[in-house]
Amino acid sequence: MLAEKKDITPQAQADDITLRKPESQDGARLHKLISECKPLDENSTYCNLLQCTHFADTCVAAEMDGDLVGFISGYIPPRQQNVLFVWQVAVHEKARGKGLAKRMLAEILDRDDCANVQFIETTITPDNEASWGMFRSFAYARRMPTEEFIFFDSRLHFAGEHKDEHLLRIGPFNRDNA
Ligand SMILES: CC(C)(COP(=O)(O)OP(=O)(O)OC[C@H]1O[C@@H](n2cnc3c(N)ncnc32)[C@H](O)[C@@H]1OP(=O)(O)O)[C@@H](O)C(=O)NCCC(=O)NCCS
Repeated sequence: MLAEKKDITPQAQADDITLRKPESQDGARLHKLISECKPLDENSTYCNLLQCTHFADTCVAAEMDGDLVGFISGYIPPRQQNVLFVWQVAVHEKARGKGLAKRMLAEILDRDDCANVQFIETTITPDNEASWGMFRSFAYARRMPTEEFIFFDSRLHFAGEHKDEHLLRIGPFNRDNA
């Protein structure tokens, strides 16, 4: 179940981990977190700063004891206003296995900024079992349909220097009943 609409959602206040929208001061810390969460691709600090500012409404930062231990970067594609595209999900090793990734995803979806969202989309390399496990578990628990297909092809789009990226689409769902 997604959380009831409140100023502070249950997802944001559970246990010792606090969830919030990111801000510009998180950019450098996000860069470090991503570098510690293999096999995620590292982007420039500048890119991370844009995620923390321009895209803050669809990103979430998780803090434990003042440390940034989790982050989801996402955005609503300009031509797909009913889609939340999840770019990267990162949970530091010390915060894994507590349901944090799924909680962060639910927290973004629960925002008014996502009022029109009916689908979650993400791309995953075939061998990233943790990522498949996380998204499938999220969809399964909410009885949301899923489909997948190759989105970026290794040879066609990455000149053979990166694995295929499969698009996983979750939905359609009615956010209020999810
Ligand atoms: C993937 C990742 C974000 C999961 O974070 P997490 O907070 O530990 O995940 P959760 O506790 O919310 O677990 C969610 C589900 O994923 C599954 N899962 C987590 N790690 C898994 C793994 N290594 N293999 C298979 N399934 C896994 C869990 O079983 C859980 O499902 P369940 O609740 O039905 O048992 C974290 O391991 C990570 O940051 N990995 C490195 C970066 C990465 O690969 N990111 C994903 C690509 S976008």
